[in-house]
Amino acid sequence: MVIYSEKDSLKQALSIRKSAGKSASKQSQIGFVPTMGALHFGHLSLVRKALEENDIVVISIFVNPTQFNNATDLEKYPRTIEKDLSLLEDIHKDLIVYTPPINDIYEKEVVSKNYIFGALEKEMEGKHRSGHFDGVGTVLSKFFDIVKPDKAYFGEKDFQQLQIVRKLVALENLPIEIVGCPIIREKNGLAMSSRNKRLTEQQFEEATIIFKTLTEVREKFATHSLEELNNLVSERLLQNPFIELEYFEIADEETLKTAVQKTSDTTYRAFIAAFVGDVRLIDNMALN
Ligand code: PAJ
Repeated sequence: MVIYSEKDSLKQALSIRKSAGKSASKQSQIGFVPTMGALHFGHLSLVRKALEENDIVVISIFVNPTQFNNATDLEKYPRTIEKDLSLLEDIHKDLIVYTPPINDIYEKEVVSKNYIFGALEKEMEGKHRSGHFDGVGTVLSKFFDIVKPDKAYFGEKDFQQLQIVRKLVALENLPIEIVGCPIIREKNGLAMSSRNKRLTEQQFEEATIIFKTLTEVREKFATHSLEELNNLVSERLLQNPFIELEYFEIADEETLKTAVQKTSDTTYRAFIAAFVGDVRLIDNMALN
């Protein structure tokens, strides 16, 4: 495993490996997995998929300040770099890890660009975390420019982010294939997240209500109206003293617009954001 903390040395190493790896007619493929560290099996599943499909795999570990709209969340974001590196080392000896300091990414000011992601940024996370997707777009655009990957891997855990990244690549005309990967869960169903490390044992168990509720919505989706499903979620979550529901939405998977009525040619997904104590969790599930 090789670790770079400066973009210039990473770029140089990648360009050498890209042309040296294969014959002149076919260059090596680069797969890229951007992360904010505190790695878990969800992140590692993306790395495994990237290893299956590419000759060179780059993982970035960078807690991006511009995508946090809450200073406490940024400050409390878990940082476990030694453990992260050892998890990656155990998966494969030949990974490339990029762990830049802030000034390697943001040279002058630590600010976001303003993106026009259209309707996608107006829903759910966009509505509740002002400026979040501008921060995500800004950092990913910088990373894509440094790594120049052929494919980049993102989890469906952050489904709206996945759709935003697809839009970013289209807006900036980048020749990168965006690969969506399934949500990896704890044994109790809770979606794996770096933020789960901040839950107490009891909160960790109580938080499974999010997964259970999404599962119930999926099971009842064909037979219940949208209104009945919304009421069901309110009943399950608003009455639970451990959970503070921020939003529940059933939305069109493509546009992320809230569903107002079910139509047979639309693919729907249910989305939840909720606080367990002061930890904000998100999850989602395909419905049809
Ligand atoms: P982070 O939260 O570290 O997540 C990195 C990647 O891992 C994202 O694509 C996320 O969707 C995926 N991931 C997280 N938990 C997962 C799970 N349980 N199952 C499957 N995939 C999972 O998302 C970010 O970082 C940042 O916004 C980033 C894209 C790195 C930009 O800063």
